[in-house]
Amino acid sequence: MTEPSAPSPAVPDPSELSEPVRIDAGGWGFTWVGDGQGVLRQVGLGPSGHSATVDVDPRFYPSAFPTWGDEDPFRPSALRVTHADGATTTRLVVADASRSGETGEEHIVVHLSDELQALDVELHVRTHSSGVLEQWVEITHDEPGPITLFDYDSLFPFLLIDQAAELVQFGGAGWADEWRWTTQQLHPGTTSLASFGGLQPHLQRNPVILLSPDGPSTEDDGAVIAMSVAWGGNTRIDLDVRPAPDAEQPRTLRLRAGANPVGAEYTLDPGERFVTPTVAWTWSDDGRRTTTRRFHEWTRSRVLRAPERLRPLVVNNWEATFFDFDEDRLRGLIEAAADLGGDVFLLDDGWFGTAHPRDDDTTSLGDWDHDPTKLPHGLAGVADIAAENDIRFGIWVEPEMVNPVSELHERHPEWVLRDEREPRLHRNQLALDVLHSEVREFAAGVVDRTIASAPSTSYVKWDANRPITDPSSATLSADRRSNLWVDHVRATWELMSTVAERHPDIELMLCASGGGRTDHGTLRYFHEFWTSDNTDPVTRVRMQWACGHFFPASTMAAHVTRWGERPMPFAAAVALSARFGIDLDLATVSGDERDVLREAVEIARRTQDLVQQGELVRLLSPVEPAPGPGAGPDALPSDGAALAYLSPDRHRAVVFAYRLDGPAGVGSSVRHLPLHGVGTDDYDVRSTDLDGTTTHDVIGGESLRSTGLEWSPAGPCSARIWELTRR
Ligand code: DGJ
Repeated sequence: MTEPSAPSPAVPDPSELSEPVRIDAGGWGFTWVGDGQGVLRQVGLGPSGHSATVDVDPRFYPSAFPTWGDEDPFRPSALRVTHADGATTTRLVVADASRSGETGEEHIVVHLSDELQALDVELHVRTHSSGVLEQWVEITHDEPGPITLFDYDSLFPFLLIDQAAELVQFGGAGWADEWRWTTQQLHPGTTSLASFGGLQPHLQRNPVILLSPDGPSTEDDGAVIAMSVAWGGNTRIDLDVRPAPDAEQPRTLRLRAGANPVGAEYTLDPGERFVTPTVAWTWSDDGRRTTTRRFHEWTRSRVLRAPERLRPLVVNNWEATFFDFDEDRLRGLIEAAADLGGDVFLLDDGWFGTAHPRDDDTTSLGDWDHDPTKLPHGLAGVADIAAENDIRFGIWVEPEMVNPVSELHERHPEWVLRDEREPRLHRNQLALDVLHSEVREFAAGVVDRTIASAPSTSYVKWDANRPITDPSSATLSADRRSNLWVDHVRATWELMSTVAERHPDIELMLCASGGGRTDHGTLRYFHEFWTSDNTDPVTRVRMQWACGHFFPASTMAAHVTRWGERPMPFAAAVALSARFGIDLDLATVSGDERDVLREAVEIARRTQDLVQQGELVRLLSPVEPAPGPGAGPDALPSDGAALAYLSPDRHRAVVFAYRLDGPAGVGSSVRHLPLHGVGTDDYDVRSTDLDGTTTHDVIGGESLRSTGLEWSPAGPCSARIWELTRR
């Protein structure tokens, strides 16, 4: 038997090729070219990918956009369509390419069309000065009837990877286990990182990865790709790895990322446009610090609302009271919050329901009038107490949801997202069908009415406490029910965008049973998110560490609570390294704890601009084994963590170091934390561990850079904070 003959290498005749499409993302990029048959090929990717030359026969280059039924039947495709005539093959050729905008703000579109079918595909790439690229795909057609999309990825690069290539993914066990850091090797086969549940998919798996194609990378060394799917629904990142025939040679990887199409095949009518989610990604050749800096810059510039505005110090009542409060109890909490120096008092779940008071989670969602027993003077009465105490008022809502026990459900049982079966309850509640324009107007009206009932409200927490089950909508005909998963995200974003536009000055927190909706797409309508309901500071150090690789600390709400029953100085120090807040029964904190909180608020006042807007530098990882003897693939993660935030001019910095509670790593030995980013002048250094010990020192910049700050961990669950100011 003879092997199929491979095309013989030859330098191609340039006249047969299309003009190369060069994407210069700033420090890295890629090149696409149409071969003699018009097939789009990827001829370069990586640090010099944008200047790659076509050196061999273009048929040796991988297809830039593999489709079902094209040249490679052995690999997954980025697009799989059943055409109007039932055909399942799609073969695309380059029609044209266009570019607009300046360097660092370019928009490149490559237009492909099917050889046979009236199907058009546009590959969109948008650059950003940070070095982050945005990519998505737009699909239209003029076939004689609807077509069905079975796979519709937004990103589909082809890479050569080392045998030691490493992947970091962030999938946990669900509620209260977000942002779990898992490092794994990429073996031959397909690794599929998919999320499900539609409404809070990121509770199980954050739609982001870090990939080190050449083997393990560090903060400052090695190739790293960071990627985020900006989609508020189910996502999928697929890594299809093939070994090389010669085991010594690099493996090949087809990476695909976008919305998760499982159960979500999409029926598209002629003339309609299907736009896939944006995937943002970047490639650094000098480690993770660069990918993080780029992601933070891009998030501030293209995603975040009011990035220049310092986020407030929020005091929430949820962990303090749950549903058990009245106006008097709230008055006590508000006075204590104001006394401590909070900016916003946030009244959480349980304030509403007249026919069915919301005393637990079994009733009342949908009935957004205040409970007259708990709040005889309404929300306005509570907001007035806040105003009297010179603290802003914030309120919790869950506008997309309904309890079967509610007046809303009695009036509008048809507003529920469901199919023919009795829908399943989760947390005793059902999801409203936001595909109905009436429901969207109702949900936006919930926010309008709530704010109108206490007009001084300036902060809203938007929650969503169940996934989608029984997926269908009365707005979708029988032949397109599976469009639900995509259309639901679009309808939800339309609703969120309406609310953001109607209330431009209200600060919005995004929450879905914790961090169930932490993606760069949904965040565009919000100012920050509730990172997780898990506020045990030991866990939070690791969660915030992971999340900080993609999101700036200004987005990560971090409140001091009693979770884990950790010492207050430690809990406060952990919350201070992200968007600081408090969620404690302030009436029952001891005098010592109050002193700790008071000092923490003072530190927040001095450092939150650095934390929220400065540059993050990670010094000691709590998710990987501590370096040194004993480090190896099976070693436990370090029980120490340290990170710094530097002002852009390097005049100021704040450094946090934590000793966690684990058995491995830093122990209580003295450590040095070199701080490379600071200047060479002397710095005033104020050091505190929030249990009453504060020292002052002057340390030269050179010494900070080489020897570093000296840290002797005081014991398990202890912390130290250094504030540096250039002299
Ligand atoms: C889930 C959120 O994550 C909590 O912070 C709290 O708001 C509850 N919902 C209220 O029901």
